[in-house]
Amino acid sequence: MGRLRLPNPIAVASGTFGYAREMAAMVDLRRLGAILPKTITQHPRIGNPPPRTVETAAGMLNSIGLDNDGIETFLARHMPYLASLGPPVLVSIAGKNDDEFVAMAARLDQAPGVAALELNISCPNVSGGVDFGTDPAMCERLVAKARRACALPILAKLTPNVTRIDVIARAAEAGGADGISLINTLLGMSVDWRRRRTRLGAGMGGLSGPAIKPVALRMVYQVARAVSIPVMGIGGIASVDDVMEFLVAGATAVQIGTANFYRPTVSMEILDALPGALAELGAGRVADVVGTLEFPPPAACAGPAISNP
Ligand code: FUM
Repeated sequence: MGRLRLPNPIAVASGTFGYAREMAAMVDLRRLGAILPKTITQHPRIGNPPPRTVETAAGMLNSIGLDNDGIETFLARHMPYLASLGPPVLVSIAGKNDDEFVAMAARLDQAPGVAALELNISCPNVSGGVDFGTDPAMCERLVAKARRACALPILAKLTPNVTRIDVIARAAEAGGADGISLINTLLGMSVDWRRRRTRLGAGMGGLSGPAIKPVALRMVYQVARAVSIPVMGIGGIASVDDVMEFLVAGATAVQIGTANFYRPTVSMEILDALPGALAELGAGRVADVVGTLEFPPPAACAGPAISNP
């Protein structure tokens, strides 16, 4: 993916894989294309009130609230283990403002074992969490500042809670992002009408899982056509067929997220099946299929509500 070299296109998404240690008994971590630990912040956060997760039709809602111990504890307690595993470690960071993002980017630039940063500008569960991912000017400015603060490859993780994802992606590219990862969760809600209560303690939360895959595919397709930097597809990926759909739609690599919770070995199953799926298309390499979707010609389209870049 540009300056970021991945051994294969199957990564595990931030927030769905702990700090990898938790998964070591079930997953051969060395085989992964990349590991993205839970988003870290500059200072520890206790997160949102419980319940923090709720199952939905074909998905789940979460409102974790970026619960984490802060960057220094992450670097001391988790980074040495993560760096020892082999796959590139893409560290996901979230800041309350430009200065926090910049300070973390500069700190991680000096930390051994960090392959790249993923700027989480798309968490719907904290105050201001999506501000940088919904305003193109803020997005470009933030990415540019992070870019100046560190030499590592930078991915911008985008929120689907926008009308024009292509505009935000272009802003991230203009700011100097090396790649785009998308999508984060869609803001949703679950209601227990008998108790007249929301099921999540925070009231609302981010929807993920197979339910959001069509939205993710559409956005990956649009973004891949809008920018010239690589795209990492995320959203409901749970099988090798899902991976192939994202690659053909324009993703250079993918992140497995929610499926890790209900089938922790899913990344291994997909890695085993990927060469066979590529061979079905006569492809020997992932790059041969990326962005090869034959989209219906404009005449066959009944005018999508959101224009195709
Ligand atoms: O609430 C959370 O910690 C979720 C983070 C995210 O969606 O990026």
